[in-house]
Amino acid sequence: MAEVKTIICQKVGEYLSAKGVTLSEEEILGFFETPADSNLGDLALPCFKLSKLLRSNPAAISADLAAALGDLEGVEKIAPTGPYLNFFFAGDKYISDLAKLLTDDYSDIQKTGEGKTMVLDFSSPNIAKRFHLGHLGTTVIGNAVRNIYNFCGYKTFALNYLGDWGTQNGKQIVAYKKWSNRELLEKEGIKELERIYVLFGKEAEKDPSLNDQARAAFRELENGNKEYLEIWQLFKDISLREYTQTYKRLGIDFDVWDGESLYTDKMPAIVEELREKGLLKIDDGASIVDLADYNMPPALILKRDGSTLYPTRDIAAANYRFNTYNFDICAYVTSAGQSLHFAQWFKVTELMGKEWAKNLVHIPYGTMSFGGEKLASRTGNIILLNDVFDEAVAKARAIIEEKNIAQGNKEEISEAVGIGAVVFGALSNSRIKDTDFTWEGTLSFEGNTGPYVQYTYARAASVLRRGEYNGNYGDYKPNDNEIELIRKLSEFGNVVLRAAKDFEPSHISRYALSVCTAFNQFYHNCRILGMGGETEQFRLALTVASRNVLGRCLDLLGMKRTEEI
Ligand code: ARG
Repeated sequence: MAEVKTIICQKVGEYLSAKGVTLSEEEILGFFETPADSNLGDLALPCFKLSKLLRSNPAAISADLAAALGDLEGVEKIAPTGPYLNFFFAGDKYISDLAKLLTDDYSDIQKTGEGKTMVLDFSSPNIAKRFHLGHLGTTVIGNAVRNIYNFCGYKTFALNYLGDWGTQNGKQIVAYKKWSNRELLEKEGIKELERIYVLFGKEAEKDPSLNDQARAAFRELENGNKEYLEIWQLFKDISLREYTQTYKRLGIDFDVWDGESLYTDKMPAIVEELREKGLLKIDDGASIVDLADYNMPPALILKRDGSTLYPTRDIAAANYRFNTYNFDICAYVTSAGQSLHFAQWFKVTELMGKEWAKNLVHIPYGTMSFGGEKLASRTGNIILLNDVFDEAVAKARAIIEEKNIAQGNKEEISEAVGIGAVVFGALSNSRIKDTDFTWEGTLSFEGNTGPYVQYTYARAASVLRRGEYNGNYGDYKPNDNEIELIRKLSEFGNVVLRAAKDFEPSHISRYALSVCTAFNQFYHNCRILGMGGETEQFRLALTVASRNVLGRCLDLLGMKRTEEI
């Protein structure tokens, strides 16, 4: 039997196309919601999402659609309720849903992105600076978005656009030559690079000519000065060594490490194209693209001295990426502070007539702070990400020991839970909201936290280790608690699609929490082990399904599956 939702979706699609509105199955699926209260049905279509398309009011659409759909296989009742159309499934629907969940097969979701390519630019730190709290958002949101799109069948390229080319590199070279050496650098790593960068800032306040020296050094670098290129490469190697460690801890892989430096020789052609297309204007010696018609300040393309700027490079890089990957989506995860920059250069590519301009997406996020402390950059007083992870792991370990709950290797579990807690913390709010971490709120095993999800996953895994599941649950009739859990678990595919559409990992983290609540309610109210017969088998089946779905959520969020806590 085809899935009931698929049938409903197809019928709604037919209804819409009869009215001259053609949408993909993916788009239609995206309209549906699961009502919070099961008394309102098993599936709901909020018709206000259709009112613009159909040029009619939601309540009228709902009533008309109900009449048009008539009787559907697997559906007991279709009820128009104001702007909503609610579907009530027939009882045995839950049994077929459970069977589907047990296969853990999501090829239907995989099909939605078949043949499509996504390029995702995230993390992208500026070399010679250690990973700090400011990098957490882009790194973990980017990774989750990437996992989500992979799950949806996209071919994804994770791209780390290292900030490895700019006047700051000139400053670093000057500072290195004055106050450091190779040995110190090898020994102290990126810390040394940071020390001399901060020192440069202080000294330049006293002696502004240092800034001229830095500019000159960068120009030398651009002109291919061998000594400078070697120093620069050393900075890069040392930085990457450290970044790789952090990425490894987080289980993040990048496919491409093309930093800003790679795109330098690709900019002149873009500047020329802008000129040819009549888009460049000279303003006080600088070259700009006027965006007044779009209520934005101008995009700066060339400085007065002819040097290029951040937008110039981004345009050249996007052009190169389209030629290289032929992307359907090219997305950038950065703090919301860069939103204007992206809006501006996206607009420029549109004005250039680039057909791929419409495929560019900015994924902004809010600030992250710890216990109210924002990161104070430049002063050297920053919250380092590795310190945050270390402390989270130590705290996780203390909790695990105190509760005496670890069944497996304590070290591994503490690492997975500590890091998972921070990752989940960064993904639990809508990304655009500001997040303030507290240890309490991040690490508690009982709150809306990563450890709670991992602990619930481990609880299911533990039941399955102790029980003997054989799949023979006959025609057991589920009780309300069990139905509630199946309903919740069955939402998974739709939640992933929604998370993909909105580039919003928090849809998954919130959903994972609600699965935990449903599973724990079931676990407390319905005895599993020792029941014997079909009841025990049915409940074990539900436990398998819960573990599958929670495991998938952890994978998507970029957290470790914890088999034993
Ligand atoms: N390196 C930049 C920064 O640290 C982020 C780069 C984002 N990606 C891009 N294509 N502009 O702020």
